[in-house]
Amino acid sequence: MKKNRFKKAWLTEHLTDPYVKLAQKDNYRSRAVYKLQEIDVANRLLKPGQIVVDLGSAPGAWSQYLARTLGARDGSLDGTVIALDLLPMEPVAGITFLQGDFREPEVLARLEAELAGRRIDVVLSDMAPNLSGISSADAARIEHLADLSLEFADAWLKDEGALLIKSFHTGYFSQVVARFKQQFQVVKAIKPKASRDRSAEVFILGLHPKRRANTVD
Ligand SMILES: C[S@@+](CC[C@H](N)C(=O)[O-])C[C@H]1O[C@@H](n2cnc3c(N)ncnc32)[C@H](O)[C@@H]1O
Repeated sequence: MKKNRFKKAWLTEHLTDPYVKLAQKDNYRSRAVYKLQEIDVANRLLKPGQIVVDLGSAPGAWSQYLARTLGARDGSLDGTVIALDLLPMEPVAGITFLQGDFREPEVLARLEAELAGRRIDVVLSDMAPNLSGISSADAARIEHLADLSLEFADAWLKDEGALLIKSFHTGYFSQVVARFKQQFQVVKAIKPKASRDRSAEVFILGLHPKRRANTVD
């Protein structure tokens, strides 16, 4: 049957994927971590002492990476990481987790309350909407999440802050990049090695915010 063949192909790919093996060896919850690691190493994004928001954090591999990157020698966290996801997430030591839908104003308000007026060094979003298969509807959902992340970054990033989001090559991709360019001095579209070739996913990184629409202090 076609479905079984698809499952078998997925399983074979999963079991032979070097990043899956590496994630098991490094004790990470998902191979997604190597996408963030590559972008972080190339752009020197993450450092101890920072305030970082991890949107779409479950199952938690990016949060684990943040805990290790911002970790102090005594094992505590040097900095603040607030992670958020629709789904529950197993705790990651030192990290505050909020469960909820980032599109909901009440959830955004909880996240903002957690910041308690502190501005953010790095906003990360690995959020991906549930895809319906209808390309125009899916593209609109992807664009909506990107817009919300851009608005959030505009309000809360520090002057030297950064925004990294997962996006997809859909009809709206060039519009999303154009919005990044309105908001950031440096904009990069990045396809990390750990991102599968057949996937339309591509990350967009914005560095050095241009101007602040709604500063919080
Ligand atoms: C690819 S996974 C993230 C993997 C994660 N970075 C890691 O390293 O484990 C995408 C996540 O985005 C979350 N997500 C999608 N839409 C969301 C929304 N509107 N609000 C919060 N989380 C959302 C999903 O629940 C899912 O857990």
